[in-house]
Amino acid sequence: MASKFAPWALRSGGSALRSCARQQRRAFQVSAAARSEGLNVHRDTPDNNPSIPFQFNKQNLSLIEEVLSRYPSQYKKAAVMPLLDLGQRQHGFTSISVMNEVARILEMPPMRVYEVATFYTMYNRNPVGRYHVQCCTTTPCQLNGSDGIMKAIEEKLGIHHGETTPDNMFTLTEVECLGACVNAPMVQINDDYYEDLTPEKTKDLLTALKEAAEKTGAGGNAPGLAGEMGKDEVSGKPTGQKQPNALKLGGEGYSAQGANIPAPGPLSSRVSCENSKGQTTLMNEPPSPEQVFRQDGEL
Ligand code: FES
Repeated sequence: MASKFAPWALRSGGSALRSCARQQRRAFQVSAAARSEGLNVHRDTPDNNPSIPFQFNKQNLSLIEEVLSRYPSQYKKAAVMPLLDLGQRQHGFTSISVMNEVARILEMPPMRVYEVATFYTMYNRNPVGRYHVQCCTTTPCQLNGSDGIMKAIEEKLGIHHGETTPDNMFTLTEVECLGACVNAPMVQINDDYYEDLTPEKTKDLLTALKEAAEKTGAGGNAPGLAGEMGKDEVSGKPTGQKQPNALKLGGEGYSAQGANIPAPGPLSSRVSCENSKGQTTLMNEPPSPEQVFRQDGEL
């Protein structure tokens, strides 16, 4: 038996080793792999476990009432997504307690809420920094230099995909298409899109955001979006409402205590998503109705 097995094992062992060596030379994965269990598994941590109480504040309760009025009462679970969003904005991230409270309000089994929150990646189920930087690396952005944008962010912040800076100011996430491909490469920072980026502009933007947070006292140690949100008078927790005077609109961008932040949108000479080379089509005068319609009156 051994004499029959040995030649086969030697032959196949050699070819397996050769194929391993070949595979190692082909690097398909260039970005840090996210551990898949991070997407759909909850593990209790000191800042995310069901014993931490969560309640919506007064402002958000009245918003919830308004949202629920859009649905027949027997279908109020249809409001699960906006309620989770409100919970995330108030608490800073979609914790297990936020999900349980949404389930209680909508009279749904908590598991149904967990299913929604784990499916959509915009629900951050772990704390994120004050600025959540989501860098798109899908094909159109990749062809326009998103590798350089990711590298610039990593160099500037000293963090990689899925990590948060030690001062809780920035979290970096690499994401798939955010639907602004025509203005690639781009990043989403909290609710805003910044487009037509170059590595230098990206670094300048991060510098400006950090400076603005520090000058306004928003700081990075407040969890999640707390820095730019008003605080609940009783609990001191973020209310889910932007402080009206935290950032003032000023011409081309925002000014916060002397720190200038570019307005969201293209950081180029473009206003929107128009052709950067100017108009190249529809250059002639539009034809008159006589030219457009048949002269025989058939159409
Ligand atoms: S590919 Fe980046 S926004 Fe679509």
